[in-house]
Amino acid sequence: MGNARDIHKDKLPKHLAIIMDGNGRWAKQQGFLRVVGHENGTKSVREIVEASAELGIENLTLYAFSTENWNRPKIEVQTLMKLLVKSLKKEIKTLQDNNIKLSAVGNLNDLPKKAHNELLEVIEKTKENSAMTLTLALSYGSREELINMVKELSNKVKNNIISSDSIDESIINKHLYTQNLPDVDLLIRTSGEQRISNFLLWQIAYAELYFTPILWPDFKKDDLYDALIEYQNRERRFGKTSEQLS
Ligand code: IPE
Ligand code: IPE
Ligand code: MG
Repeated sequence: MGNARDIHKDKLPKHLAIIMDGNGRWAKQQGFLRVVGHENGTKSVREIVEASAELGIENLTLYAFSTENWNRPKIEVQTLMKLLVKSLKKEIKTLQDNNIKLSAVGNLNDLPKKAHNELLEVIEKTKENSAMTLTLALSYGSREELINMVKELSNKVKNNIISSDSIDESIINKHLYTQNLPDVDLLIRTSGEQRISNFLLWQIAYAELYFTPILWPDFKKDDLYDALIEYQNRERRFGKTSEQLS
């Protein structure tokens, strides 16, 4: 079992991203409706956010709702949006108490008005916080993000604001939703699925991937510690040889 004491504070991921998956299966296993899984999932969100801030992780990004998730039954989408509003109202205190700044990536204009407004309000209220940036990926799709980036850049080239020759990684980064975030160092996905599901395709280019069978409502502090310990034991070579690193 993971223990916070075994984690090296100087080797934490600068950016941890999590695909929070398995709420529906968790509920089904206990004979509940899917929404009960989502409700219990929010408890894991609070615990993992607090544990991450406590450890000193600077950036945590949570995949909460994908562009593809709009295709779920209407009642489930509505419930998820209601749950988002409820959680934002409730957890603003957690964010303030832990000096956490809230941010969001995705096509936020597609969110229902109420959820969008609540989100903007919490982002505004926490904007001076500095211990950790918590980014919620909402109505997020990586391909949509990349399409928008290409459109913006091609318009700038067309209008002579930039030259096509000047396009490099840093310019691309500045035109993504995640513009102020460093690359993802560690990506965790719960529930046993081993796929990316249109999440941060550009930003995970060199991320360490960690898949666990634990369903999101069961994913707690100790499970996060396990993932971090494994991450710290991996050798990140970035194309070099092992000998070059030591
Ligand atoms: C993740 O859990 C939450 C969202 C995608 C919103 P799921 O709802 O995908 O749970 P499973 O995968 O059906 O178990
Ligand atoms: C990915 O989970 C999206 C979120 C966790 C918000 P899904 O459950 O929607 O992914 P797929 O459809 O199984 O790949
Ligand atoms: Mg799922």
